[in-house]
Amino acid sequence: MDMTELAIIGGTGLTTLKNLDIIKREVVHTPFGEPSGPLTHGVLSGKEVVFLARHGYGHTIPPHKINYRANIWALHHTGVKQVIAVAAVGGISDDLEPGSLVIPDQIVDYTSARDNTFFEDGLSHVTHVDFTQPYSEELRQLLIRGCQAANLDFVDHGTYATTQGPRLETAAEIDRLARDGCTVVGMTGMPEAALARELDLHYAAFAVVVNKAAGRGTGPISMHDIELSVKQGMDKVRDVLEHVVPLLGT
Ligand code: HPA
Repeated sequence: MDMTELAIIGGTGLTTLKNLDIIKREVVHTPFGEPSGPLTHGVLSGKEVVFLARHGYGHTIPPHKINYRANIWALHHTGVKQVIAVAAVGGISDDLEPGSLVIPDQIVDYTSARDNTFFEDGLSHVTHVDFTQPYSEELRQLLIRGCQAANLDFVDHGTYATTQGPRLETAAEIDRLARDGCTVVGMTGMPEAALARELDLHYAAFAVVVNKAAGRGTGPISMHDIELSVKQGMDKVRDVLEHVVPLLGT
């Protein structure tokens, strides 16, 4: 396998990979505008990977302002074939606590007014991609094996509700998402996953619960508590990723 085939998109709390030995930074201009930042090429656990901070390296781009098309196009352009998308999420199901790791297998998209397709202009025919299974099962299994190798608890399935943000949800909205079958909620799962599918990238999400969703805990959601959970959760993510990379191509 080509060694630069894997990209990691870091979400909130993962603007750098401490364990990545950086080789170079690559600025990519795309027909869809600028990605969240330069692509960082480096070596993780002995293999070359590409890293991109979804919210920018200074964490300045809010979920609804991210140029998802430019990010995915840039990764595809640099030769990446697989994308692990890390995301901080709220836990909807009761068994999910801050610190829980979830590898979702489904998505419900509640976003609006985001540029959500590459198939817009200059088409020779109208294109509809299959999205029955939104994530790559192969890559999900790799994440599962990575969690096992790191000896960490995880949940191997889940439905990721993607909300528009940037505000958090109301308690009634979370009740509705639960009725829809969603188990975690975040703001960046879509259109990222669909855009990856449009370019035939293997894509899987690795979600870290950083708070109980609105109305599922006691009282309002505390940003201070979220920050603590993000820090602890992302340490686990780095650990898992170190174990995932050696499994590539096995
Ligand atoms: N809702 C939406 N997005 C989130 C949450 C949440 O509770 N926590 C982290 N990202």
